[in-house]
Formats: sequence, C-alpha cells, structure tokens
Amino acid sequence: MEGLRRLEYRGYDSAGVAVLTPNGIASRKKSGKLSNLVAELEASPLPASMTGIGHTRWATHGAPNDTNAHPHLADNGKLAVIHNGIIENFAELKAALLEQGETFLSETDTEVAAALLGGIYRELTAAGDPDPLTNAMRKASQQLEGAFTLLAVHQDSPGVVVAARRNSPLVVGLGDGENFLGSDVSGFIDFTRRAVELGQDQVVTITPDEVVITDFFGAPAEGKEFHVDWDAAAAEKGGYPSFMEKEINDQPDAVGQTLLGRSDAQGRLILDELRIDEAILRSVDKIVVLACGTSAYAGQVAKYAIEHWCRIPTEVELSHEFRYRDPIVNEKTLVVAISQSGETMDTLMAVRYAREQGAKVVAICNTNGSTIPRESDAVLYTHAGPEIAVASTKAFLAQITAAYLLGLYLAQLRGNKYGDEIADVLADLAEMPAKIQNILDNADKVKKLARDMADAKSVLFLGRHVGFPVAMEGALKLKELAYIHAEGFAAGELKHGPIALIEDGQPVVVVVPSPNGRDSLHAKVVSNIQEIRARGAVTIVIAEEGDTSVEAYAEHVFYVPKTPTLLAPLLTTVPLQIFACELASAKGYDVDQPRNLAKSVTVE
Ligand code: F6R
Repeated sequence: MEGLRRLEYRGYDSAGVAVLTPNGIASRKKSGKLSNLVAELEASPLPASMTGIGHTRWATHGAPNDTNAHPHLADNGKLAVIHNGIIENFAELKAALLEQGETFLSETDTEVAAALLGGIYRELTAAGDPDPLTNAMRKASQQLEGAFTLLAVHQDSPGVVVAARRNSPLVVGLGDGENFLGSDVSGFIDFTRRAVELGQDQVVTITPDEVVITDFFGAPAEGKEFHVDWDAAAAEKGGYPSFMEKEINDQPDAVGQTLLGRSDAQGRLILDELRIDEAILRSVDKIVVLACGTSAYAGQVAKYAIEHWCRIPTEVELSHEFRYRDPIVNEKTLVVAISQSGETMDTLMAVRYAREQGAKVVAICNTNGSTIPRESDAVLYTHAGPEIAVASTKAFLAQITAAYLLGLYLAQLRGNKYGDEIADVLADLAEMPAKIQNILDNADKVKKLARDMADAKSVLFLGRHVGFPVAMEGALKLKELAYIHAEGFAAGELKHGPIALIEDGQPVVVVVPSPNGRDSLHAKVVSNIQEIRARGAVTIVIAEEGDTSVEAYAEHVFYVPKTPTLLAPLLTTVPLQIFACELASAKGYDVDQPRNLAKSVTVE
C-alpha cells in the first residue's frame, strides 16, 4: 500500500492488488482513490503473502469502476495481470479470443492481455515448458502492439513476478533477499536505492534472489543499474499539508541544485553530461524544443534566452503536433526535449522521430532512469528532487534553469558571448534561490487574495516577452488545480480579440516586465493595464520591486525582487503558483491529485 501510495500520483481513479497465497490468488480492487482500496482491505483483509502486484489506474478503456480496475484475472483465476499503457490491437485480439470461447468481465484492453497470456501459459504448461510464466509473457508481448508495461503472477509460480515493457516505464529495485518492480523508483524507495533501468521490449522475471532480463524472444539482455540519489523523505510532505505546497517551497533548492557544480570558479560552464561532439554543436543551425504542458512553457521561456544568447533560431513545439506535420529537422538541428517525468509518450515519440531524421537530441529531465533521457543523445538532469503533486511547479523552474545553462553553454562554445558576460549571467542565476525564497516568505498577501477569489468563474492572465509563457503557465495552474476557466494571452494580442472578454469585475492577472528591461515593453504593458481597467477589469499585477508606476492602475500589486528580464520568469511564476494552490485549497480541492489528470502521460 505504501508503494502504491507513492505511485498514486500517476493515476488515481481506481486501485487494486493481487497476492499469491498457498490457496491461490487473492485480489481486491476498488474504484476511486487508493484510500478506498485501503478501507476495503481493512474490511476484508488479504491473507499473508510474500508475492504480489498492485496498481493505481488512469482510465483509458472503460470507466473507472471496480470491474475495470486492475488486476485482471485469467486462466480460471490462477493468473493476475496489471498493466499501464494502451494495447492498440486489443480489439482484434479480443475478437479472436472471444471466438476461442474466452469471456470478459471488463471493458479493458488489460483483460485481453491477461486472457492472451493465460491461453499461452496453458499451452506451454501442457507442452512441459519449465518456465511457462516467463515464456508466456515473451510470446504474448510479441503479439501486443502499442504501449504496455505488464506484470503477472501465477498461482503455480510462487515467489515469481514476470513483467514486460514496451514504450512504457518499468524499473527494477534490487533488494537483499527481495526484489521489486515499479513504474518508478518511488514505489520501492523505502526498501532499496539500487535500481535497474530496463530497455525497450524487454521481459524481466524476479524472484526474491534473482532478476533475469531478456528480450521478447528470450535472448539475454542487461539492464543499467543506477543509484537513487534521493531518499524516501524527499517523497514525503515534510510537514506541509500537500505535496504541492511542499514543492512550491522546494523551489529555491530545485533551482540551486540544478545550478550546482555546472560552472567553475571563473564562471565557465562545465556541462560534462553534454556528450555530443563539440563540432556538431558548433554547426547547429536550428534548435527545436519539444515538450508538452508546463514543460513546453519552460521551453517557450528558454527560447527568448537561447535566441538572445546564441543567435540560433529556436522553435518551441508541442511534441504531439511536431511529429505529425512533416517537420524540417536534420543533422544540423539540435532538439531539446523537456520532460519532468522522462516518460511522456508524445515527447518520447517526437524524440524518436527527430533522431530518425538525423537530429541530435538533448533531454532536460528530472527523473533518473526514465525513458526519454535513455533514448536521447545527451541529458541535462534537473535536480529538483521527486515531484509528486500532479501539477508541475518546481520542475518548471528547474527546467528553465537547465535550459538557460544549455543556452549559455552553446553561447560559450560558439563564441557568441564573452566569458565575462556568461559569468555575469551565472552570477545573476546564483542569486535566484534567495530571491525565490524572498517571494515565498512574503506570500501572505497573494494567499489572502486567492482565498477572497475562490468564487471567481474566470481569470485571464496577460504577459509579454518572457512574461507571456509565464501568463500561460499561471492560467494552466489555475485550470488544473481550481477548475476555473483561465487563459493566458500575450498582452500585445489583447486588442486583437481577447479584450472583448473584459467586462465589469473580470479578474485579470498581468505580469509586468521590469521598467529597466528591454525597449519600451514596460510602458506598453502598463498601457494594457489601463485599457482593461477602463473596461471594468479587476487588475492583479505582478511587478518588480520599486515599480510604483503600476499602483495607480492595479487593484492588487505583488512585488518580486529586481532581476534581469530574461531571468524574471523564475520569480514571476511563483506568486501565480501560490495563487492557484491557495485558491484551490480554499475551494476544498485536492491540489495534489486534481481530477482527470495523471502525472506521467504515458499514452498518446
Ligand atoms: C502541468 C503538468 C503537465 C506536464 C506535461 C508534461 O502542471 O504537469 O502539463 O508538464 O504533462 O509532462 P513531462 O514534463 O513529464 O513530460
């Protein structure tokens, strides 16, 4: 249950377990959050067991009810299976199995995989196969298409769990006289820090003393062992009421850790991880940033800095749009794939596509042992620590930080910037953790406003330049956490349409650029505030300390410390996160597990 609790952030519409007992498989499953399963187990405890599987679900096929919850049983209740992903050919397989007389209780693709596995298991047993469970898993996997991590236990194989993975995450935890499998290491972090990454299309069989990895055809394979460098406490709330609040408060550290050890005393960047031939990096003529959701907003922020520092044209594209539109990428394109989880299927597929076209891919990722870094040419890890709350906060700031380091590194390598210019930016970046802390220490005013606005029906967010993606991120947080309609707009776009939305009392959050920043951006955004205020908007302004010019036009002003324009998103985002979190909490919502979402979107 503890392992499932740690993995619950990946999906939380139903949960279930199955354990092997001397009298066969015992299973319980329940729709809703894990707490429902816990209550069920208290009411109807399972027998003691040394081997079992458990699952939290994010529904793809069939509603999140008790029947569709995993595990699914097959082979007359002797085999139990859990599954992440989508089996794309499940309809054909189901039709064939129905013809053979199989019956199904649920609407899931998983039950089809279980039935397929059960049928093969029976055939292999009849033929005297010495390891029918492992071999059935290999054979079944050969027939399945799509994305899957499948785990199975069989009543006649005590002490054995068999798993297969394609396009969906699975890691092994190596214990002492015990071994584990998990979608990520948090599932077994209480027991071991030794973990093994599995490759694509592999089958693994674990017993208390052994871990055997092969491909789908039985050829021996090796996983890559790694050490989990955070402990269980990092995946706990640490005294905060929610992971979301903890993670917002972790941000000074997330940025600090991401900067740590990546430059020398002279302010030169050392990115040892970037194992791509320097000649190739010098010849890059285009950068394409690929990501989804919040990670894509981090990419949009980074674009401003990378283009400014490196003079390399930089595009930011949603991974799922990129790969279906015949994009122009080649050997001279550097793709930067940003993903907290390292498992987002859309981004993984886009990475594969870009590499097929000859592009080099650098991943910016927070999760060690995940798939996207493994399939990229190089990886810059963000060291934000585990992000458990489903909506992303600290990973966003860490992604921006890592992307800035990458941009500065390219500028250094290609000679776009003098050493002292780079050292200056690094010195500014080094001050960011303390400045973020300053915002966190003075958050009461934002929190009060959020509580006062709990009944808002719609909130608009405006920003310009780097403030534009910040505005979109602020809106996304409010949608996700508080289920309030929210949109982020480029302030300059206002007159081209969105201003029609402004009516009396419409709250609008405006991210104002520094008055010391570029050209006349500040003045333009201040004019925008006046324009919407004249039409009845309630203006909530995020501005730089000392910028009193906004006060005359704002109902509410929140100040963030002075900082160079390009680095401002590391600060201006923070009050917007606090606002969304506090407002959602005031409405009584679960800020860690908002409705309908899952943290790692491992289906397309
Ligand atoms: C928003 C959020 C999502 C993720 C997106 C990408 O709060 O968490 O929009 O940013 O699903 O996920 P990763 O970064 O894991 O690829």
